[in-house]
Amino acid sequence: MEKKEDQKEEKKAEAPAAEAPAAAATEDKVDPFHVEAATDKGIDYDKLIKRFGCSKITPELLDRFEKLTGQKPHRFLRRGIFFSHRDLDKILDQYAKKKPFYIYTGRGPSSSALHLGHMIPFMFTKYLQDVFDVPVVIQLTDDEKYYHKQDLTIEQCQQYAIDNIKDIIAVGFNPEKTFIFRDTDYVAQLYGNALKVGKHVTLNQIKGIFGFNDSDNVGKFAFPPLQAAPAFSSSFPHIFGKDDTIPCLIPQAIDQDPYFRMTRDAAVKVGLLKPSCIHSCFFPALQGLKGKMSGSIDTSSIFMTDTPKQIKTKINKYAFSGGQGTKEEQRAKGTITISESTPTVGANLEVDVAYHYMKFFLEDDVELAEIGRKYQKGELLTGEVKAKLITVLQEFVANHQVYDEKRNV
Ligand code: TYM
Repeated sequence: MEKKEDQKEEKKAEAPAAEAPAAAATEDKVDPFHVEAATDKGIDYDKLIKRFGCSKITPELLDRFEKLTGQKPHRFLRRGIFFSHRDLDKILDQYAKKKPFYIYTGRGPSSSALHLGHMIPFMFTKYLQDVFDVPVVIQLTDDEKYYHKQDLTIEQCQQYAIDNIKDIIAVGFNPEKTFIFRDTDYVAQLYGNALKVGKHVTLNQIKGIFGFNDSDNVGKFAFPPLQAAPAFSSSFPHIFGKDDTIPCLIPQAIDQDPYFRMTRDAAVKVGLLKPSCIHSCFFPALQGLKGKMSGSIDTSSIFMTDTPKQIKTKINKYAFSGGQGTKEEQRAKGTITISESTPTVGANLEVDVAYHYMKFFLEDDVELAEIGRKYQKGELLTGEVKAKLITVLQEFVANHQVYDEKRNV
């Protein structure tokens, strides 16, 4: 009873999924199948929060997180990389009351290796599992990728799912509390909740949310309820029994939000709990912040299977630099001050890819701030910042590969 009233109240505040306005030509394009910023500075995430109707993660919310859990927020939270949410406060309420909840995330297996961008939600999910000590379910949507990638057979998607699962396990989830599944194996358990969602989503809504048109295959239209289903605890009877009242939190990059806007709308209509979401921004392509790192563009990505040499070559060759054209310019411009408040910069950190990658992967806040300060003033050159990044990423990828190897034995 309490659950339904709560949901009615929220419904007023949140625009239905189908009404979320589409991007205008000059706006950033963000959906599960396209990410393209309107400018070189990357996606305007504040605008996106407004367009999608989600909420910013505020310092107050982070304070509450820290007080409740007794843990320092992850660097992804401290640095605004996970920047937006839907009903995260309800999950914290649940935790404060010592009541159960679970975490759900996923991967669409369209290639055999994950790239650094894919690691962001998985690393964060592992951190949340460590902090909250709750079950995690991970969906591999081999069906989704089969419908969306013309050149892939279902067998290839299933094999990629197995390959990806190894990478996901290597992130270090608690084996006692983690359930990883491929849709083509587990679909029967998802079907009941997928049916309920499917009955309450119209063709027009799917077109509006995902941008499909009449020439797209029907599988693409049919799939979204299957990504919705794991957001309901009754899809996992071996973990939760028949209980459909256990709240769910979904870490994801914000490109996946359209699926869960749809899910939350449908949940209200069928009397199920709306899942909570927490969104990250995108780990950019090597070429710059206009695009996200994407597995379908090989030169945009660093893969978890790359060798130290490949990592070094890719960063040196492709990582877009916000530094000046020459060493002399970088140093000179860094020393000129136009006014007290607006010093001219050596490097433009806003567009510099190496610096952005460091924000995601360098743990030490003081060191990061120092690199940013010196680079901006021209005291550091792009080559020096890239060299530091190369060592950070080579170490991260090598550690992951060692873990992966151990798991394979
Ligand atoms: P997929 O395989 O496209 O991506 C897997 C996860 O990685 C995120 N992601 C990124 N994050 C930061 N920077 C990037 N450059 C980047 N590229 C991808 C995605 O947002 C996603 O969280 N349909 C989904 C699979 C899925 C799922 C889910 C994802 C099924 N259930 C629940 C999140 C939550 C997909 O194809 O993801």
